Amino acid sequence: MRITIVGCGNMGQAYARSFRKYGLVEHEDLLLILRSEGRRGQLEALGRISLSIDMAVGQSDLVILGVKPQDFGGIAAHLSGVLRPEQVVLSIMAGITIPRLQAELGHRTVVRAMPNSPAQIGMGITAYATGAELSMRQTLMVEQLLNSTGRAIHLEHEAHLDPVTALSGSGPAYFFHIVRTMIAAGVELGLPRHVASALVKQTMLGSYHLMEHADRTPEELIKAVMSKGGTTEAAFAEFTASDLDGSLKKGIAAASRRATGLSGS
Ligand SMILES: NC(=O)c1ccc[n+]([C@@H]2O[C@H](COP(=O)([O-])OP(=O)(O)OC[C@H]3O[C@@H](n4cnc5c(N)ncnc54)[C@H](OP(=O)(O)O)[C@@H]3O)[C@@H](O)[C@H]2O)c1
Repeated sequence: MRITIVGCGNMGQAYARSFRKYGLVEHEDLLLILRSEGRRGQLEALGRISLSIDMAVGQSDLVILGVKPQDFGGIAAHLSGVLRPEQVVLSIMAGITIPRLQAELGHRTVVRAMPNSPAQIGMGITAYATGAELSMRQTLMVEQLLNSTGRAIHLEHEAHLDPVTALSGSGPAYFFHIVRTMIAAGVELGLPRHVASALVKQTMLGSYHLMEHADRTPEELIKAVMSKGGTTEAAFAEFTASDLDGSLKKGIAAASRRATGLSGS
């Protein structure tokens, strides 16, 4: 398989590393297109480096667009001149719809995906939707590649990428915020920061694994920690009084609306 990645920042680089780590592409078959020389030293062990979008891109089975959405306009015209109809274009840019990708690239076989930042350590989750023109073979190729960065989920409806963006795309930031706030609470209650930090991080890790292995719902697991008149119940009374659930849901709904607004759908 031959792959081109246009834009090798956090995500593009994470993809390149995962594909190479799992032997999905050879060094000479991976073309990394950069905007400047700055990252060459860091990336040339992964694949061939180019500073321009030229006919070499037309040799790839898959072209991944890993630039920021605002940089898409600058590369679309160059790409539309070199893409061949049998190639698949996979965009991970937030908010740029399949119809817009198809129109600006003049290309039908397009996939739109929403990864998240744990993809950088092979623990991401990516939801993706395909243009109707993709064959089963092409869809499986994309899914296999995305699975190398964590897990991949196929969406029937492109519109679902907006709530996906709000849940899993932005989700790592919600998690880091909760961790940060819990550590701050521990420090305010008198714990040394390193102790509070170790307690919160290991609690998150252990709780995640308990949820995965215990075969019980989050609700059942909450009840198992909470006893009548106890400490957890006191915390939850405060959470309910300040409508923590409502705030979280409102925040996630706002993120989904923003995703819809960005994509203009
Ligand atoms: N980060 C996340 O958690 C996340 C989650 C979901 C989706 N995404 C999407 O993933 C995409 C990339 O995000 P990121 O966090 O990886 O951003 P990033 O670190 O800023 O990477 C973007 C890269 O694109 C390069 N670039 C810009 N214009 C270019 C051009 N004309 N030719 C070649 N390379 C060019 C930039 O080069 P320079 O280094 O020279 O600026 C930069 O290295 C975005 O569209 C974002 O919406 C990101």
